[in-house]
Amino acid sequence: MKFSRIPTLVFVSSFLILFPVIHGWGEDGHLTVCRIAQSRLNDAANSAVKNLLPKYAENDLGSMCSWADRVKFRYHWSSPLHYIDTPDNLCSYQYNRDCKDETGEADRCVAGAVNNYTSQLQSYPSSSEYNLTEALLFLSHFIGDIHQPLHVGFTSDRGGNTIDVHWYTRKQVLHHVWDANIIETSEERFHDSNVDEFIDAIQQNITGIWAEQVPGWETCSRNETTCPDVYASESTKAACAWAYKGVSEGSTLEDDYFLSRLPVVNLRLAQGGVRLAATLNRIFG
Ligand SMILES: *[C@@H]1O[C@H](CO)[C@@H](O)[C@H](O)[C@H]1NC(C)=O
Ligand SMILES: *[C@@H]1O[C@H](CO)[C@@H](O)[C@H](O)[C@H]1NC(C)=O
Ligand SMILES: *[C@@H]1O[C@H](CO)[C@@H](O)[C@H](O)[C@H]1NC(C)=O
Ligand SMILES: *[C@@H]1O[C@H](CO)[C@@H](O)[C@H](O)[C@H]1NC(C)=O
Repeated sequence: MKFSRIPTLVFVSSFLILFPVIHGWGEDGHLTVCRIAQSRLNDAANSAVKNLLPKYAENDLGSMCSWADRVKFRYHWSSPLHYIDTPDNLCSYQYNRDCKDETGEADRCVAGAVNNYTSQLQSYPSSSEYNLTEALLFLSHFIGDIHQPLHVGFTSDRGGNTIDVHWYTRKQVLHHVWDANIIETSEERFHDSNVDEFIDAIQQNITGIWAEQVPGWETCSRNETTCPDVYASESTKAACAWAYKGVSEGSTLEDDYFLSRLPVVNLRLAQGGVRLAATLNRIFG
């Protein structure tokens, strides 16, 4: 009897230890970015994505967009590639200063990873060195992550992971509010708890109120295939202006915060999807 409890305890304690270090839009955030992106691919990118996806994905990129979170423990080297730590309270990002892991190794951050997997995919249809299926799944996930403001947050609070708040009545960390809670509350309150309706509403604004801005989101300067430094700079500015603003340890976040931050989350998901498509279209087109 005594022994039967051990696996439960091991599971519970490792879950509690691992939970705060999980980075990434939640499942629905990544699904949203990838669904928007796949609907905007040109013919060349469409067929490359179809070829690279595993058969069981049934040509649905969205179903594979949280793969990079699931392999974080098996591919331990990949966990610093989900975010960037910027200096506390500076509200700015610079590749050379900030794109490194905790040991100081250069390029090991989400902007370096976006460049890395973009250049690997440019060898499509074949690479002797790299697994291009993995390159596609990493790139699709990381272009989502780099648009989550708190993935380009402050170093000392680890992008809001150490800031305890209440989301309405539930205990939460600020990082997770931005990964998942704002999206989930929006789905529940405005979209019949249905992620497809949530995605449709964002798509409608991409072709409606945001239509004139979309070409600007898609473009990179100097003919670059992708421009993660632009995406990261916007995120760190949004982190200061919206995510951290008015929040301190123990704050209770409810309607005032939810309703004023939701438009920012919707915009970042839309930009992530549009830019993932634009990047894939340039890689394969
Ligand atoms: C680039 O991709 C390779 C293959 O997945 C990986 O081993 C390496 O750590 C990556 N580096 C960066 C900075 O993303
Ligand atoms: C490429 O990566 C995928 C996902 O990890 C794996 O299922 C597949 O077997 C790999 N392909 C090769 C040729 O190693
Ligand atoms: C779409 O735009 C309308 C008009 O600005 C806004 O009220 C609505 O919340 C937006 N929805 C999403 C999901 O972006
Ligand atoms: C961008 O690429 C186009 C076509 O390859 C070329 O004509 C143009 O000069 C390039 N512009 C810059 C700024 O490099």
